[in-house]
Amino acid sequence: MKEKLKWVHNQLDNTNHGSPLLSYFTLEQVKKVGQFQRTYERFEQTPLHHLEALASYMGVEKIIVKDESYRFGLNAFKVLGGIYAIAQYIANKLGRNIKELSFEQLKSPEVKAKVGDLTFISTTDGNHGRGVAWAARELGFQARIYMPAGSAAERLQHIKSEGAFAEITTMNYDDTVRYTSQLAQENGWVLVQDTMWDGYEEIPLWIMQGYTTIVQEIVEQIQLAPTHVFLQAGVGSFAGAVVAFLQQYYEQEVTFVLVEPHVANCYYESFKKNTDQFVSVGGEMQTIMAGLACGEPNPQAWQILKASTKISISCEEEIAATGMRVLGNPLDTDTRIIAGESGAAPFGCFYEIMTNEQYKELKNALHLNEHARVLFINTEGDTDKENYRQIVWHGKYANQ
Ligand SMILES: Cc1ncc(COP(=O)(O)O)c(C=O)c1O
Repeated sequence: MKEKLKWVHNQLDNTNHGSPLLSYFTLEQVKKVGQFQRTYERFEQTPLHHLEALASYMGVEKIIVKDESYRFGLNAFKVLGGIYAIAQYIANKLGRNIKELSFEQLKSPEVKAKVGDLTFISTTDGNHGRGVAWAARELGFQARIYMPAGSAAERLQHIKSEGAFAEITTMNYDDTVRYTSQLAQENGWVLVQDTMWDGYEEIPLWIMQGYTTIVQEIVEQIQLAPTHVFLQAGVGSFAGAVVAFLQQYYEQEVTFVLVEPHVANCYYESFKKNTDQFVSVGGEMQTIMAGLACGEPNPQAWQILKASTKISISCEEEIAATGMRVLGNPLDTDTRIIAGESGAAPFGCFYEIMTNEQYKELKNALHLNEHARVLFINTEGDTDKENYRQIVWHGKYANQ
């Protein structure tokens, strides 16, 4: 029988929090990102909920959930990265500072005349590609989006309905990334990928910066700093961006916990190996946590996360399913949160740690007690509605 949770303490020398990348995630940088994103006329802050009844039931001070399923009406946070990276790319082409540009200006015929017809290309499990397709359409450009084998038809359809060319390949995520990178080079298309490699650094960093609007909103929406933040990781760009900002913003130390599915646990394996260099995992990576099905860490995110993660957790499929069910069925007056598979995984881990005696040691190691204020970010809603219903209504992946 597979273990529900596996975990490893980060034992790397983390005295040096000073990755040069942190300078991209200061309050000043983060404000610049938010300022541009708010120029979009229908921009709205996403809600943040305090689940008080659940916190009291679980024996912690606070359970806080930032709900990114409301972001831009796209049911996931990812668009924040794609739109900012595309905007920065166009700003650079124009030789302008993004601080002086608005969404409306980028749409204008004058801009089009200067930058020409651009095609943006990307690989996605669904959410990132939908964001890129949305941003390209909104700004009047083309998008081509490729998905790994096994991707949900509903997610493909969402991308197509943004007017993009989109298809599901026969490759896994990491091989599809290599394929799109090659297509971009051959055709002069602009690759908007959320992971970096040598010679491809700028755009992934802009994507990470784009995500920081979430944490900028969070620090404004809460009064007391969280003591713990549980973060889901695919390539780790999202978690890296959140950690890079929060650790600089708060004076007090925050405990960061990373969560991945067993089949794509490259951060867990890297922390287990305990060397400065990360490791990758391969294979098919079939998981309901589609957004987390990435076997190769983003090296930029690794730089940040290896210095700041306290514990890295790898989890079984049913953990995410439990998280979806609990968040979708609130206690007393708590708010109902519709969390998709990747969105609910960190909460599912927390729930298991708090309720399963087997993980008492982990609970103690993390000091998850009545003083804990635990923050989660629901990174997606029911982006695969059929699977959501199977899990929440029909008990698919129920606890054994
Ligand atoms: C819903 C959701 N949550 C989390 C992630 C993880 O983000 P990252 O790949 O940057 O670690 C993704 C990635 O696609 C996602 O779609």
